[in-house]
Amino acid sequence: MSESIWRELEAEAEALSKRHLRDLFEEEPGRFAAFSLSLGDLLADFSKEKLSPHALGLLFDLAKLKGLEARRDALFAGEAVNVTERRAALHMAARDPEGDFEAGGEPVSAAVAETQERFLAFAEAVRTGAVRGSTGERFTDVISIGIGGSDLGPVMATKALSPWHDGPRLHYVSNVDGSHLADTVKTLDPARTLVIVQSKTFTTVETMTNARSALAWLEAALGKEALSDHLAAVSTNLEATAAFGVPDERVFGFWEWIGGRYSLWSAIGLPLAIALGAGPFREMLAGALALDTHFRQAPLEANLPMVLGLIGVWRRNLLGCGSVAVIPYDERLSRLPAYLQQLVMESNGKRVTLEGKPLERASGPVVWGEPGTNAQHSFFQLLHQGTDVIPVDFLLAAEPTEASQAHHAILAANCLAQSKALAFGLSEKEVRAQIAEKGVEAAEIERLAPHRTFPGDRPSSTLLYRRLDPPTLGKLIALYEHKTFVEAALWDINPFDQWGVELGKAQASTLTPRVEGEGGEEQDGSTEGLLSHFHGLRKKTP
Ligand code: F6P
Repeated sequence: MSESIWRELEAEAEALSKRHLRDLFEEEPGRFAAFSLSLGDLLADFSKEKLSPHALGLLFDLAKLKGLEARRDALFAGEAVNVTERRAALHMAARDPEGDFEAGGEPVSAAVAETQERFLAFAEAVRTGAVRGSTGERFTDVISIGIGGSDLGPVMATKALSPWHDGPRLHYVSNVDGSHLADTVKTLDPARTLVIVQSKTFTTVETMTNARSALAWLEAALGKEALSDHLAAVSTNLEATAAFGVPDERVFGFWEWIGGRYSLWSAIGLPLAIALGAGPFREMLAGALALDTHFRQAPLEANLPMVLGLIGVWRRNLLGCGSVAVIPYDERLSRLPAYLQQLVMESNGKRVTLEGKPLERASGPVVWGEPGTNAQHSFFQLLHQGTDVIPVDFLLAAEPTEASQAHHAILAANCLAQSKALAFGLSEKEVRAQIAEKGVEAAEIERLAPHRTFPGDRPSSTLLYRRLDPPTLGKLIALYEHKTFVEAALWDINPFDQWGVELGKAQASTLTPRVEGEGGEEQDGSTEGLLSHFHGLRKKTP
């Protein structure tokens, strides 16, 4: 049954390939109104997607056939939608402490509310100086040690909400490369530094290695007795946090039903809450909750995550686009592409269905990007004239957070100009006319015209919001979370596991002794060759 819709979609994509976005806009004067949706101050314009009303109608049919709304309801009902780990995926509960969520039939909202009260109270105590270091000094600096989902969300949001940042300075250490921690502590005073170890499992080798080194740094300056005053932890593994020496009252838990890359809303948001305070942190949660409510209640055709997820599938499977560029025209969202790389690629980088059968169609795309306008001066050449068509998500605020209106007008004009240029291009005929107007000779026009032609017809969507404040950030992130879920549901994959990261982790642990030169297993020819050169080069280090 769904195969016949796929065939209709393919036929429509084929028909659309013969029509330019210019034609679609000419033929449909009401295209912007028909192909945009909003939720409060957040507008999603997808009129520049290579999409027709018929294609969208077919995508809605596909969604109905795939039982998308029932799958969403199962997600919110706390069913074990993470089938390989037999778990619920209830990150939405963390942004709604007054809700009545259940995970696998067990009520969870009371525990969410209690933990939220505790970690936000601790955040406030650090900010006011009620909680201090071992010498009685206030904490001026906080180092958050974590990686992946225990790092990228707070890092991204701390930068995004920097105008609200009035607490201690925040430093994030994630890479096991010792330079990350070393460069971070170089200018810090241990007596005024709080270290928060953020790890769902409390076993991640990078985080635990960095945490032990940070402990040694504190101990060398302040002594062993002082350590407990300078530590806090966020984890589901309370035995391990205790064994590490973090006092119980400084440990903030979360639950197996919140996946790492969905955990910003839980106690993993502690560093962010220390930076901003409980008020703005709660506002961010409220923004995400508004998006959740919309996702649960809005009809399919008016439902932002549903529609954007369907467009994601259209881009990937019908237009054959293997990657998506995310370009925030918002410097403070500079870590958003990295955050979305984990959210989208760890969730939807899957090759088998929920039942373990090989997929017949492509799943999650590569996600990448940089903020505009910087990106215009690096890779936009390829977006406009390269041989691959790469859809773009543009993000833009109508108002700057600071009073830099002159800058903002230029920034916004550039954002609008880029989506326009990608969609409509500049035909060879127009190029020739432009060059000719400058009095250039015919032979020179002939030579240059192909190089200066912009094919256009390149799809993009624009997310436009009033300004980048805590509720807006919450909405944007929740929108991408649910869009990712919708895509996964259409592909029949599990977006909540990440087995693909395990093999490399296991092999790294067997390789560590070989790198250290202390025995270990024999490796394949290439790895042996690399190891031998590695050791040879080390011998040359004076
Ligand atoms: O390596 C992938 C991963 O498991 C992510 O999903 C997770 O966010 C990250 O590692 C960190 O894990 P933890 O919070 O347990 O340290």
